[in-house]
Amino acid sequence: MESRDAELVEKISAFRKRRNAVILAHNYQLGEVQDIADFVGDSLDLSQRAAETDADVIVFCGVQFMAETASILCPDKVVLLPDINAGCPLANMITAERLRAKKKEHPQAAVACYINSSAEVKAESDVCCTSANAVRVVESLDAREILFVPDQYLGHYVSARTGKRMILWPGLCPTHVRIKPERIKELKREYPQAKVVVHPECTPEVIALADEVLSTSGMCRYAQRDEVREMVVGTEVGIIHRLKKENPGKKFIPISEQAICPNMKLITLEKVLWSLEDMGSEVKVPEGIRLRAKAAVDKMLKIGRES
Ligand code: 13P
Repeated sequence: MESRDAELVEKISAFRKRRNAVILAHNYQLGEVQDIADFVGDSLDLSQRAAETDADVIVFCGVQFMAETASILCPDKVVLLPDINAGCPLANMITAERLRAKKKEHPQAAVACYINSSAEVKAESDVCCTSANAVRVVESLDAREILFVPDQYLGHYVSARTGKRMILWPGLCPTHVRIKPERIKELKREYPQAKVVVHPECTPEVIALADEVLSTSGMCRYAQRDEVREMVVGTEVGIIHRLKKENPGKKFIPISEQAICPNMKLITLEKVLWSLEDMGSEVKVPEGIRLRAKAAVDKMLKIGRES
């Protein structure tokens, strides 16, 4: 570690103690940010950790909807996002107003929303899900028709797995669509022994070529199996740091080096320190929206994880 980083890490540790803060980081965060976190995980892990923590302050190293979810679950805690500009383009592809209009067109449909959505959209939904439990969440719904928002590819995957009739919102993750089937075919030829593991935000053509379709933490668990020696990885490249750290000696090959989420990369060690020093930027969901959104998130947390 460079001495500048070592100094920052020391200061972060001191402030973390002083504020009684917990630092949660998503698997896509910069390696040095993952390394100082108290916990690194996928969206479901991080919501569960936030719900359970007894810290006074949660520093969320991730993007806005993740910090919002922590605020929905922990209204008494201060939730800080070290860079308030860290948004999610997929979450921004739907608004509560547009969802309300769509619900009017399909009054019988149950609404399932991916956690990559605003608190307002969650408040309009019957249940929330993440990539780690979307199939199980949709299976739990009695409705004959499900309006699934905002990720069309996750929705398509869930519909194929469950056989449920689903109306899909036309949203997508601009980072995951950079992962192309042609490249997987090349990598399969180059690494015939490798397992191909992709995120369910990838296109159906990519998913069709995969051995496993998993959430980011699901990928980390899968990588630890003895039979996995080489893994072709179809998600944001930040995860490679954790995969390598936890599995020395194994080989991890990103399908696309360009699968980089610029928002996740906005969080740096400096910003984590400033956040603890200045207690900014606070993310707080207004109470009326929070209570309605919490009902959808709580239902999901009860269902738990499938991968
Ligand atoms: P995971 O919940 O699988 O970590 O996915 C989060 C995400 O935002 C993917 O783009």
